[in-house]
This record gives sequence, structure tokens and C-alpha cells, in this order.
Amino acid sequence: MTSLPMELLLSRKSFNKLTAPAPTSEQMDVLFQSALRAPDHASLKPWRYRVYEGKSLEELGELFLRASLISEPKLSEFQCQKIKQKPLRAPMVVVASVLIKEHPKVPEIEQILSGGASVQNLLMAAHFSEIGAMWRTGGLAYNLHLAGLLGMEENEKITGFIYLGQEEGVKRPVKYLNKDEFVTRI
Ligand SMILES: Cc1cc2nc3c(=O)[nH]c(=O)nc-3n(C[C@H](O)[C@H](O)[C@H](O)COP(=O)(O)O)c2cc1C
Repeated sequence: MTSLPMELLLSRKSFNKLTAPAPTSEQMDVLFQSALRAPDHASLKPWRYRVYEGKSLEELGELFLRASLISEPKLSEFQCQKIKQKPLRAPMVVVASVLIKEHPKVPEIEQILSGGASVQNLLMAAHFSEIGAMWRTGGLAYNLHLAGLLGMEENEKITGFIYLGQEEGVKRPVKYLNKDEFVTRI
């Protein structure tokens, strides 16, 4: 027997196709509160989130394109259009990042791990709220020109583009893995 929260935990999955409406600001407050409950060595609070919806999704697409063209000036018109439209795949995109601080006991990797845990908390809160979500990265997440265009600090790293909206299409069944392939009891 599993409890309801446990069943919810076991049934999270990503949604590729996301449609309007975007989550409400009340729903997003809960998602972000959940994101801010991530484990955090030395209370560095490295998490940062930038929210794009409506018109600002088009602006984000323009920035995706500008950053891509700085890195690869010879992109075809087709590639340019594709890049520009990426953020339009959902009614809301949250750019997640971590602001890395120098700390004698907390190396960069721990701050990035905390950023990942924070995104996972946000995804779980979305799932609990019946909001569809998909964590994406791709080359743009590691494009320093984009980080600059988004107004990020030098020591800030993108951890993901979180696409949020209403789940569309047929739900893929959740794939349950055999834990014995991953877990060794000593
Ligand atoms: C850091 C990170 C980056 C990811 N980037 C992408 C991506 O760019 N494109 C993509 O299709 N899936 C990406 N994924 C995987 C999806 O978010 C998702 O986990 C995967 O499709 C499996 O689906 P599930 O979450 O329902 O098991 C990424 C996952 C992580 C953890």
C-alpha cells in the first residue's frame, strides 16, 4: 500500500506538449516556495528563476536567436526560425539558474546539485498541482552569450529551461524501472 503523496511522487512525468493557460501566479507562488525548499549546504541560496510568459516568450525567442547567431553566424533561415520559436512551445518558460558563490566548504558542484534539487522540487509541485512541465537544456543553456543577454552575472549558470502549461495529448504511461539494477544492498 502506498499513500497518496507517495503515489503522486511515483507518477511524475514530463510533458512535451504544453498548451495555454499558463499556471496562475498563485500556483507559481507554491511552485517557487517548493523550489526554495531544496537542500542547501551553508544556506547559500544559489537558486534564481526568471519567468517568461505572453509577449516576453517572443522576446526570449529573440534572445535565443541573438545568442545563437553570435556563436554561429551562418545559421540558415530555417534554423533561425526554429530557434526563435523554441520558447513558444509552452505558455510559460522559467529559466532556472544558480548563482555560484565562493565558499570554503561548498564547492561549485554542490551549488549546482542544489539547483537541480530545486528544479526537481518545482517539477514535483507542478505535478501535484496538475500542471504539465518539461525540463529542457540543449546548447543554449551553456551559451555564455545567452546568459549575458538574460542579464545573468558572470558566476551564474543556467540549470534549465522549465516549460510549463496544460498537459496536452495522450498521457504516456509512466515507466517503472527495476530498482535492483540501480541499488546494491551491502
Ligand atoms: C538537466 C536536464 C536537462 C534536460 N534537457 C532536455 C532537453 O533539452 N530536451 C529533452 O527532450 N529532454 C531533456 N531532459 C529530459 C526531460 O526533462 C525528461 O526527463 C525526459 O524526457 C524523460 O521523461 P520523464 O521525466 O517523463 O521520465 C532533460 C533532463 C534534465 C534532468
